[in-house]
Amino acid sequence: MTSRDPVELWDDEAATFDEAADHGLRDPAVREAWRELLLSVLPPVVPEEGAPRPSRRAPARIADLGCGTGTLTLLLGAEGYVVDGVDFSPEMIRRARAKEPVGQVTFTHADADHPPLEPGVYDVVLCRHVLWAMPDPAATLRRWIDLLGPGGRLVLVEGSWSTGAGLPAARTVELVVATGREAELRMLPEATFWGREIDDERYVVVSRR
Ligand SMILES: C[S@@+](CC[C@H](N)C(=O)[O-])C[C@H]1O[C@@H](n2cnc3c(N)ncnc32)[C@H](O)[C@@H]1O
Repeated sequence: MTSRDPVELWDDEAATFDEAADHGLRDPAVREAWRELLLSVLPPVVPEEGAPRPSRRAPARIADLGCGTGTLTLLLGAEGYVVDGVDFSPEMIRRARAKEPVGQVTFTHADADHPPLEPGVYDVVLCRHVLWAMPDPAATLRRWIDLLGPGGRLVLVEGSWSTGAGLPAARTVELVVATGREAELRMLPEATFWGREIDDERYVVVSRR
């Protein structure tokens, strides 16, 4: 059996990608749930007086790796963050760029496994539902951590889905801890994130240091 080229596969997903409640965030309640969740785990847009600045730039800078149609990139751009989205699917990137631009966001067509972004300057590396697809997630994580400035954090939204795909939460925690960093796990079983009840494992792992 020949396995399909992953870029083609994601290109084919792009046209209908935003129809899923958690992808397009078209339902205001679902959008608000993600906005609140992300803001609760991200650093403030502008640091409090006297707080250390990882990137020494304000506002805080986020790399959104495997950004898809740019839903989270733009959501966070609207909150005042500087966000650089990267995706290897030309069709996902085309759709992200076609959305109404908000704030300071960029979209780059590239492999998120080797992101062509400036190392050591990001306050946050964010990925939602992407680490699981990397051929060697441990090596990928090390490269993503290289993008962070001092005090930078990882925000990894992942799942182990009923389809059989994904990364179990314990494995993601293990991968982060193996890099020498701390990992905080929060499970995300609430229907408000997904637009429906779920019975599989969905979660966010945040690594602040
Ligand atoms: C499940 S979607 C998630 C999209 C987005 N993070 C979100 O949550 O809305 C996975 C995305 O990762 C992208 N992707 C998968 N492997 C990639 C890679 N090696 N480099 C860049 N993008 C990748 C796909 O093209 C797709 O857009």
